Amino acid sequence: MAMSPGWKKGGLCNRWEHGSAVYAGNVGEPAVFLLDVESSCHRLESVDNRKPGHHYDVPALRWRGDQDVAKPNFLRSGPQAVKTRDFARSMLPEKPTGERWDAAMAFVQKRIQSWAEYEVEELPHFDIKWELQLGLLRLFASHLFFGECLEISFVENNIYPAPQLEFWYPYFPNWLNPAYHKMKKSKESIWDFMRECTRAGEIKAAYEAAGLAETEAFEAMLCMLTFNASGGGNCGLNLLYYLPHFTGKEQMKDEDELLTSFCYELLRNNGPPAMLKMGFKDSPENEDYYSVVNTSKGESFAIKNGTTCYFNSAVLGRDETRWENPHTFRADRFCPMPNANQSKRDTTTGSEPLPVLALGCPLGRGADEEYLKNAHCCVFIDLIVPFLKGVTLTLLDFEYRLDYQSEAVVSKLVKTKKEEVPQLSGSARKSKCPFAFDISAENMNQGANATEDCAPPV
Ligand code: HEM
Repeated sequence: MAMSPGWKKGGLCNRWEHGSAVYAGNVGEPAVFLLDVESSCHRLESVDNRKPGHHYDVPALRWRGDQDVAKPNFLRSGPQAVKTRDFARSMLPEKPTGERWDAAMAFVQKRIQSWAEYEVEELPHFDIKWELQLGLLRLFASHLFFGECLEISFVENNIYPAPQLEFWYPYFPNWLNPAYHKMKKSKESIWDFMRECTRAGEIKAAYEAAGLAETEAFEAMLCMLTFNASGGGNCGLNLLYYLPHFTGKEQMKDEDELLTSFCYELLRNNGPPAMLKMGFKDSPENEDYYSVVNTSKGESFAIKNGTTCYFNSAVLGRDETRWENPHTFRADRFCPMPNANQSKRDTTTGSEPLPVLALGCPLGRGADEEYLKNAHCCVFIDLIVPFLKGVTLTLLDFEYRLDYQSEAVVSKLVKTKKEEVPQLSGSARKSKCPFAFDISAENMNQGANATEDCAPPV
């Protein structure tokens, strides 16, 4: 089956319609698509950032492989990958507690509360989708890194996605020249900010300890704040769309387990469904080596050494052997909360495994320090759910509705009474459970914007 790299309108459905967990394809080179949890876990388990040539790629994004600055760390391998990962991990708090965490969360809460200050006539200029899709997580991470906020709109307007384009220099087309120079100039002021920010001393100590040069560390932070933090875009968007429709909000405020479960459920349905790419060199010295992967349904496939494998986090989250009625978004799916290393649905208690694969990590490995040190999974792995919980709790204190008449170009935040809250348009219907929605592929947005593929149309 021919597939073009990257996402396209309706791409999510097309992949599901194929009907097989593992299949071979051609994306300009032979490739294998792994679309179930078992086979993907198997492959991701062997990720070791020290192995040369053992890398991910995101085909929709055109990084050049030979550059070592401002690109996601999971595109690197070898010593530079190890050092950058060490640095990134040492920059974040280990637990979602403490002064730094509280200050970052307070900043985000204040930001959300400030939305209520908008006058109705100002609302068309306010992009709530941007805030939840990208803004809040970036602001939050930036606050954790720097102890204060790097003005993110400055980065958005001047840098992103420009840092990546720098790699092409001097080969990139002339029409990109203005963007390039703007970006170069902006970067200098961002570096100045990083040198002078509240946590400048800790940052310097962290990159020196990891063996990185100043620019390497600054580029890594910029890439994390602009690119990596967008990983939560789909969770944020769904949070925004679903929350006004939940009944029993008070219950969510009072029951931590339900709130936690809801946030994990957001992660289970997390896109973007862009394929991750991974070239395997299990046995580089042996061209003819095959390794076997088993699927959740018990099939086995032999994959030739060096074959590129693609995963899809959104599709993985719908593996029916793991989750009951996977196409239903159910806020209480993980009540009672399973163990982090539970990998199967417990048919007696009904407890279901957590969707850790959304963060690029096989189930249960998040607690394994040795694995975490040399994997490529998300360094924010233990912080995402607590972050989502903080944002959800703040939003729960809010009465808001989205204006579906505005063609969703600008989603509006308005102060409104509870009874005015409209239903999601057909596609994301409420089921009998007050916290459940139909999230079948055909009911999702499938927009040209990847993050919207896994969000209900409004
Ligand atoms: C809900 C939010 C997030 C999700 C779902 C997410 C998801 C992921 C995934 C799936 C990967 C593995 C690479 C891949 O397979 O594509 C990854 C890697 C990474 N993430 Fe996140 N991420 C999120 C937020 C963040 C944030 C806020 C940061 C830091 C500011 C961050 C930093 C990183 C870094 C540095 C890596 C690369 C680690 C390495 O290669 O050593 N992520 N993330």
